[in-house]
Amino acid sequence: MTLSLQYLGKLDGIDPLRKFRSAFALPEGIVYLDGNSLGALPVASAARVSDLITHEWGQGLVRSWSNHNWIEAPQRIGAKIARLVGARPHEVVVTDSVSVNLFKLVVAALRARASRRVVISEPGNFPTDLYVIEGAFDTLNAGHWLQLCARQSLLEAIDTETALVLLTHVHYKTAEVFDMHAITRRAHECGALVLWDLSHSAGALPIDLNGAEADLAVGCGYKYLNGGPGASSFLFVAERHQNALVSPLTGWLGHAKPFDFVDQYAPAPGVARFLCGTPSVLSLAALEVGVDLLLQADMTLVAAKSRRLGDILIELVASECGGFDLELVSPAEGHLRGSHVAFRHPHAYQIVRALIERGVIGDFRAPDVLRFGLTPLYLGYEDIGRAVFTLKEVLTKRLWDRPEYRVRATTT
Ligand SMILES: Cc1ncc(COP(=O)(O)O)c(C=O)c1O
Repeated sequence: MTLSLQYLGKLDGIDPLRKFRSAFALPEGIVYLDGNSLGALPVASAARVSDLITHEWGQGLVRSWSNHNWIEAPQRIGAKIARLVGARPHEVVVTDSVSVNLFKLVVAALRARASRRVVISEPGNFPTDLYVIEGAFDTLNAGHWLQLCARQSLLEAIDTETALVLLTHVHYKTAEVFDMHAITRRAHECGALVLWDLSHSAGALPIDLNGAEADLAVGCGYKYLNGGPGASSFLFVAERHQNALVSPLTGWLGHAKPFDFVDQYAPAPGVARFLCGTPSVLSLAALEVGVDLLLQADMTLVAAKSRRLGDILIELVASECGGFDLELVSPAEGHLRGSHVAFRHPHAYQIVRALIERGVIGDFRAPDVLRFGLTPLYLGYEDIGRAVFTLKEVLTKRLWDRPEYRVRATTT
């Protein structure tokens, strides 16, 4: 079988998820391979946000907190996201950024395991995860320390000294997937808690937090959930932990009775205690559109297509771009891979710049990785072909070798 554009076009013709593509406002002529950084714009988002501004805010004014249920948006959208991550509706809320939610949950977890001092993570985890752990240690000032273990030795490293294991389910750079069930099981055998960062998993892979008996999780709203730049993130606290854990950010909206306006803090029952301040209503409206769209898709089909897109990308790069020093960083086996594919190259940054200038938008991750996000709702098989043929041209003609591509932009 040759992976010609014609053949890939045929795959698009029989793709059961193809109908979702028109629900996204993608610019003409662009192959968008960065939905794992910023998801594409759902067509319905503009009208929804505009309606919220014009009617709910403009006409309803402050009454809309009740009349349009703004105040319940964190729980309402959380309950919808719960369906995407295998949680119960009352175990997820949408609030704050991933970083802030990590801080709240790390501190709460360490206080709940007060006799233990060790947090386990892996080297090369997403920086915010590691930085937040450091910040939590400074806040607690109780002699905690961080043990960074390579994946292969992680299970053995968890022991009865471990308070918390914090891992990113799908690695942001390599797309390697952790076995959530096995790690959670091992941590529980040792009496430790696990906090999963689902930023690169939620909306991309089927996730079963309850099936894995997960304790805690956070995830991103602006990647596979298509909630728009800076969309709020979500946090999950398993029902059995909800009333034992307390947020270190004791804001009024996490209070049991915020509108009693009393002087003493009393945590709300359930996951609502992890809310802090006023929700970003405009941004939540866009996020809800993205989540609603994803809920219409069968996640099994989404995951199967993501795998196939990845397999085709890997196969095409091997057959079309051999001999150009591109090294596959992601697992070749689809079941071990999340929804992006990464390659290493000494001139990765310049190649990404040259691709973007030719309408193929992927991204660069320091020091030498090209990353291609695969978002099955709006990406087709033919898009993958176009991307690889553009990459081939960039490599064979050395189109990346221009002085202006050597200057790093502030954001990559
Ligand atoms: C694994 C992971 N965690 C967290 C974040 C971002 O966190 P925040 O939304 O606080 O910027 C990212 C962003 O790319 C990520 O990849």
